[in-house]
Amino acid sequence: MQIEFTPVAPAATSPLIAGVFAEGQLPQGLEPTLAQGAAAMRFTGKPGQLFDGFVERDGSVVRVVLAGMGADDADRPHALEKAGGALAARFLTSGNQELVIEASNLSAEAVAHLLTGLTLRSWRYDNYRTRLKDDQKVSLQKVIVASVPEGAEAAWADASALVEGVGFTRELVTEPANIIYPETFVERCRARFEGTGAELTVLDEAEMAELGMGALLGVSQGSVREARVLAIRWNGGVDGAAPMAFVGKGVTFDTGGISIKPAGGMEDMKWDMGGAGAVAGAMLALVKRRAKANIIGVVGLVENMPDGNAQRPGDVVTTMSGQTVEVINTDAEGRLVLCDVLTWLQRTHKPTAIVDFATLTGAMIIALGSEHGGLFSNNDQLAGDLLQAGLDTGDKLWRFPLSPAYDKLIDSPIADIRNVGPRGAGSITAAQFIARFVENDTPWAHCDIAGMVWADKPGDTWGKGATGFGVRLIDRYVRAHLEG
Ligand code: BES
Ligand code: MN
Ligand code: ZN
Repeated sequence: MQIEFTPVAPAATSPLIAGVFAEGQLPQGLEPTLAQGAAAMRFTGKPGQLFDGFVERDGSVVRVVLAGMGADDADRPHALEKAGGALAARFLTSGNQELVIEASNLSAEAVAHLLTGLTLRSWRYDNYRTRLKDDQKVSLQKVIVASVPEGAEAAWADASALVEGVGFTRELVTEPANIIYPETFVERCRARFEGTGAELTVLDEAEMAELGMGALLGVSQGSVREARVLAIRWNGGVDGAAPMAFVGKGVTFDTGGISIKPAGGMEDMKWDMGGAGAVAGAMLALVKRRAKANIIGVVGLVENMPDGNAQRPGDVVTTMSGQTVEVINTDAEGRLVLCDVLTWLQRTHKPTAIVDFATLTGAMIIALGSEHGGLFSNNDQLAGDLLQAGLDTGDKLWRFPLSPAYDKLIDSPIADIRNVGPRGAGSITAAQFIARFVENDTPWAHCDIAGMVWADKPGDTWGKGATGFGVRLIDRYVRAHLEG
């Protein structure tokens, strides 16, 4: 979407003009068709509410849109995003190429929020649709913000980096597993981060074998695709200071391996790399807005396939940490990937804190559905800050407990750990597994986002499909706690 700013008011004859209004504050001087039409349609300016009608102005027929931004309270930013999202949903394929927004009653921040919602909701991936009818194709190309308030362009420059990051995550998550696999995930990132100043490091299987990453490689050994670890480093903070780390599960397809999943819905497992996607997108957002912090994003990329060479239930693997794992269920593969990535990260980069994102357990979806991601942490401060960042951005989290009693459930009779516990508390025992690889009490949080990366129905700022969950959460956390 092309965004343009102009200080002048929209021409009376622009074919599509929108204004955004607070609840109960309809503009004065509207044509009676609009004023009475809005009243008849019970338009009051609730968040995201739309009313539009046609009027004649200066001899031209003009479509005028009233969008609601609710009351002037703490929810205003979200209401503005909702209004932007509603505008995009209504006009993206309307046939209109240009939307003019009359912004004289908005602040610079309000414009940025509105455009954030509008551009996020406009994201589509039509690359594989070759037979779209004209009325199914995106028509809206340009949004012109007229009567633009002072500072709106700068506010938008900052916000648009975030939108770009979310878009990148959605692209990675949406692409099928024959297109995005470990090597091509890395290639996409290389292309996107080219010339940004971020530093990319890639480990191939030979290097991982050398490092002793037996758990990650065990998952990968049934696939013809080679595994990769990708680290994206951004040094926008104090020179030489240790980075904060974000880690992502990047299982580019999860068949379950020899513990194979049932056929129904297995196609969903193309998005089992949603944690890695979120980390890559968040890094892009941070880099694009030149965040003043040292941050590293590390993703473990593998495909989990059944094969003559695949690992078997009962196999014992040795992790990079030296701890051994009895692989009871080859479908509990995410934790096997994350543990070696965590060890490598801690030994190589000594991060100040670690937050991992993973579509780790189906049990998380049973517990929380698609309203919250699960949060697990060894540190109350970090957990509290992440919960708050979630509330601020809409990427909401809900905290679950960790304890020695749960930890005991993954002791193995033959190795140091087994990769699954009993049926109960499946998301917690998964988190306890990862916790065994956190060294020196480093502040660590694990976000199980199995229910969050993909949506069956449209939301305020996303359509059906990839949501980009996690990008805004990470961006907000960094902004609030690591910068300035
Ligand atoms: N990727 C899945 C978790 C998942 C399931 C995410 C459904 C999104 C939707 C993960 O690798 C997995 O298979 N977990 C198992 C763990 C079990 C074997 C202990 C699960 O949840 O069934
Ligand atoms: Mn699995
Ligand atoms: Zn998985």
